[in-house]
Amino acid sequence: MRKITIVGAGRVGESTAQIVAKEELCREVVLLDIEPGVPQGVALDIQQSASLLRFDTRVTGDTHPAAMRHSDLVIITAGLPRKPGMSRSDVLEVNLGIIDGIVDKVLEYAPEAMIMMVTNPVDVLTWRVYRKTGWPRRRVFGQSGALDTARMTAFIALETGYSVKDISALVLGGHGDAMVPLPRFTSISGINIEHFLSKSRIEEITRRTRQGGGEILALKQHSSAYDSPAAAIAAMVDAIGHNRRRILPCVAILDGEYGQRNIAMGVPAVLDENGLTEIIELKLNEDEQVLFEKSADMVRSDINNLP
Ligand SMILES: NC(=O)c1ccc[n+]([C@@H]2O[C@H](COP(=O)([O-])OP(=O)(O)OC[C@H]3O[C@@H](n4cnc5c(N)ncnc54)[C@H](O)[C@@H]3O)[C@@H](O)[C@H]2O)c1
Repeated sequence: MRKITIVGAGRVGESTAQIVAKEELCREVVLLDIEPGVPQGVALDIQQSASLLRFDTRVTGDTHPAAMRHSDLVIITAGLPRKPGMSRSDVLEVNLGIIDGIVDKVLEYAPEAMIMMVTNPVDVLTWRVYRKTGWPRRRVFGQSGALDTARMTAFIALETGYSVKDISALVLGGHGDAMVPLPRFTSISGINIEHFLSKSRIEEITRRTRQGGGEILALKQHSSAYDSPAAAIAAMVDAIGHNRRRILPCVAILDGEYGQRNIAMGVPAVLDENGLTEIIELKLNEDEQVLFEKSADMVRSDINNLP
């Protein structure tokens, strides 16, 4: 990729820009924010680490949306994070206005780009962006499952003591407390985790994964997570930029898959240079399907309330 714009130079935006620049996932990163001086300052700070971290990526900051011109990918991290005790849906109203305004600017200045939504509630807002742009669904998707899966992987590694590199986990559904971690599709070097962990330990890991973001927020109080979200975004960028055809759980627009349509939520999907080009439909068992539908109902109730 040549150029990536990150809208929102806050915690998630900054951390994402750092990884994308350091890993040289594109030639040019632009940070956009509404706070005068902030995106410029953040960009300069990252740029000054270039010789130390050995990267040639150009990082700039701007407050004018015209700076997103010719972007291959626009990552949207602008908007309010939730505060302790809030659900992700509680920030929908304020973030909806912010996202609607940003999408108007993307349509004006980067009409050929792909959009990766990050701002919460990410499933609902991905749906909103899809409807507002009218773009094909391969060009509008969101990040949540890569993070939720990484959280589950971390908890399994901590519990078993085995390398994260050998652990492959899977979390589907909406990015909320009703997300659906799938132990049946989770393994260590191809061996299902039931071989290593008791049912009750797996249930505890599943519970902790669902509340992974909330646990960090409760500890930090003044900030939600941003390092692991940024790493998850970067993994998706890497898959797209290098045309890897990785299968990662992503927020995708569903059109009949998993029995759902007119909704965006987390499912395994193929990411390549054209964006989200394929949805992998798993045969869920009855219990998993019930959980998936419950999660879909929660996302849909927010979608139905959109103005
Ligand atoms: N999808 C995920 O997995 C995931 C993970 C973590 C955080 N998030 C979400 O990402 C969002 C950002 O979180 P954060 O911790 O970086 O928040 P933050 O408050 O640190 O940063 C948000 C930034 O957005 C900017 N902003 C607001 N309106 C804007 C506009 N119209 N145009 C450009 N910039 C604008 C603010 O000035 C601020 O710098 C939140 O909604 C949070 O819930 C999602």
